Amino acid sequence: GTTLGASAAEKGRYFGAAVAAHKLGDSTYVGILNREFNMVTPENEMKIDATEPNQNQFTFGNADRIVNHATSRGMRVRGHTLAWHSQQPGWMQNMSGSALRQAMLNHVTRVASYYRGKIHSWDVVNEAFADGSSGARRDSNLQRTGNDWIEAAFRAARAADPNAKLCYNDYNTDDWTHAKTQAVYRMVQDFKNRGVPIDCVGLQSHFNNNSPYPSNYRTTLSSFAALGVDVQITELDIEGASPTTYGNVVKDCLAVARCNGITVWGIRDSDSWRASQNPLLFNNSGGKKPAYDAVLSALNSG
Ligand code: G3I
Repeated sequence: GTTLGASAAEKGRYFGAAVAAHKLGDSTYVGILNREFNMVTPENEMKIDATEPNQNQFTFGNADRIVNHATSRGMRVRGHTLAWHSQQPGWMQNMSGSALRQAMLNHVTRVASYYRGKIHSWDVVNEAFADGSSGARRDSNLQRTGNDWIEAAFRAARAADPNAKLCYNDYNTDDWTHAKTQAVYRMVQDFKNRGVPIDCVGLQSHFNNNSPYPSNYRTTLSSFAALGVDVQITELDIEGASPTTYGNVVKDCLAVARCNGITVWGIRDSDSWRASQNPLLFNNSGGKKPAYDAVLSALNSG
C-alpha cells in the first residue's frame, strides 16, 4: 500500500490517529487524516467531562462531529473512554460510594448505548492501575467504590453495545517485567477465567526517555494475546520519533496475530500533547517525517 491505512489493511490491521474536533476545519490536518488513516480516536471529546458535563445531561456534539467525519469516509472509531479517574466533571469528582458507582454505570450505559453499533472498540476503563512497583490498583474515587468497579463497567458496556470490542487501556504497561504490566495481565486473566466480558487490551505506548520502548514489547503483546484477547496499540508516540523504534513497534504488532491495529496519538508534531518532543509521523507543516517512511515500510514488509 501507499498509505498507512491501506498498508495496515493489507495485513488485516487498522492504522488510526487521535483526532480533535476543533481541528476538523484545518485543511492540512484533514487532508492527512483522510488520506492516511482508517481508524480515529476522539482525543478528548468522548471523555466523561465532555459527554456528561452535568449529571444526566449528555452532550455529544463534538464527539458526533468526529464520528460522522469518520464513518462517512469509511473510517472506524475507537471510543475513549467510558470510565476514568481523570477528566471527570466536577459533579462526579465530588461523588463517592454507591451514588458514584451508580453514576458511573449510568454514564457507561448511556454513552455506549448512544453510540451502539458505531464503535469498533471502546476503552471501557482507562488507567486504573498504580504506577511503580506495587502492582496495586490506582487509588481514585472510582476504586473506592469497590474493587469490582472495573468488571461492573465492562458488564454495563457489554449490555449497552454487544458488538463493540471492550478494552482495558493503560500506559507503562509495555514492559513485560514491569509490575503494572503484570498486574493488568492478572486482572485480564481473572476476567477471562470468570467470564467477565473483556475483548481487548490497549497499550497506550507513550515512549520517551523516561519510559522507552522495551526490548520485550513483543513478549508483552503476545502474552496478553495468549489470554484470548485482542491487543491494540492505542496512543503511540515516541520522543524524537526514531524511525528504527517506530518500525520495530509496527513489526512487533505484525508478529502477533491478535494485535489488531495501531493508533498514533495525533497527526502532526504540533498536534501532540507532547509537541516539544516531536513524537509523531508528520511535521508541523504536514510533511512526512523519516518515521513515517519507516512505519510504511514496516507495514509493507514480510
Ligand atoms: O478545551 C479546553 C479549552 O476550552 C481551554 O481553553 C484550554 C485551556 O487550557 O483547555 C482545553 O482543554 C484541554 C484539552 O486537552 C483540550 O485541548 C485540557 O486543559 C487538557 O488537560 C486536555 O489534555 C488532554 C489530556 O489527555 C487530559 O488528560 C490531551 O489533549 C490529551 O491528548 C490527553 O490524552 C491522554 C489520554 O486521554 C489518556 N492517555 C494519556 C493521554 C496523554 O495525556
